[in-house]
Amino acid sequence: MALIATNVCDYKELAKQKLPRMVYDYYALGAEDQHTVRENKEAFSRIQFRPRVPIDVSHIDMYTSVLGYNISMPIMIAPTALHKMAHPEEELASARAAATAGTIMTLSSWSSYSIEEVNSTGPGTRFFQLSVYKDRNLVQRVIRRAEKAGYKAIVLTVDAPWLGRREADVKNRFTLPPNVVLKNFEGLDFGKIDKVNDSGFAAYYDACQSIKWLQTITSLPILMKGILTAEDARIAVELGAAGVIVSNHGGRQLDHVPATISCLEEVVREAKGRVPVFLDGGVRRGTDVFKALALGASGLRSIYRPAGAVRPCRGRRGRRQERAEDAQGRARGHHGAQRLRIAEGDHPGPCHHRKRH
Ligand code: FNR
Repeated sequence: MALIATNVCDYKELAKQKLPRMVYDYYALGAEDQHTVRENKEAFSRIQFRPRVPIDVSHIDMYTSVLGYNISMPIMIAPTALHKMAHPEEELASARAAATAGTIMTLSSWSSYSIEEVNSTGPGTRFFQLSVYKDRNLVQRVIRRAEKAGYKAIVLTVDAPWLGRREADVKNRFTLPPNVVLKNFEGLDFGKIDKVNDSGFAAYYDACQSIKWLQTITSLPILMKGILTAEDARIAVELGAAGVIVSNHGGRQLDHVPATISCLEEVVREAKGRVPVFLDGGVRRGTDVFKALALGASGLRSIYRPAGAVRPCRGRRGRRQERAEDAQGRARGHHGAQRLRIAEGDHPGPCHHRKRH
């Protein structure tokens, strides 16, 4: 019997049935032992809610705003490369779906439709993702095109100076199917994906220099994607990033880094509300989104308007209890379930609408 897709993971299962193995593995698998891929998801499942029920939920409004742009829900589409291997309409379909849902899509620079083609598919707010490659003329050219086409922000990926070791791609001898080209870099020799680190696509290794240089050539706000620690969040803020994206590239870059949801709180604490903090990695359900918001990801402000706010609420007693639970969890050899508290009337977590320039 055909599978009826009722959630994101079902779509993954359908994709497995339909796509060639090389393509499915490219989309689905991460670096080395898949530890971080698994952990991204499992860390969400260790978090539990502590629900309060006498709250008026007759009116739920999920509208929020990102860098001043209103979106219908605190969910956006992260940049992912090479949609054409899955569907002939590729990034055009994704862009239309994002617009229909009233949210923002970030187009990967490794798209198989061009910057211009994607933006002319219809209305919608779009950001453009890229890494700073060694070939800066190449980068400058695509930035100009993104600006001209009307993209509203640059998402600078800083966790991929070197393509992660995705062993499935090596085993499958991954190559781009003949009908798939990187439209934004047409004419350039992409070659085999396992050779990309040796090509002109190798990223420029210094993320700080990258953002400083980008700021000299564009006035678009720049979000830094790939931050996992308070230290790097501080650097991002000091460098003038318009926002921070807590991300480990879906576990496709460095294996054995923690789940993004485990890193969120320290980044939010360091950002101190000065810039918005977003998260990707392992988000598969609305409850995952809710957990990220409750732990401080941006986009919370309007969710429970006007009935109150949601965030992990830690009174002194709560903190004591949590420490005890953590200690018990550690003694049992796992982190213990983290519990989120829902507190009516709490000040919402950082949701910050800030426009640079
Ligand atoms: C990605 N990701 C990614 N990130 C980026 O900055 N530029 C890119 O071109 C891509 N390409 C890409 C392709 C595929 C197939 C995947 C699965 C991911 C990473 C992406 O933006 C995001 O960080 C992760 O996908 C989030 O983790 P989950 O949701 O896949 O667990």
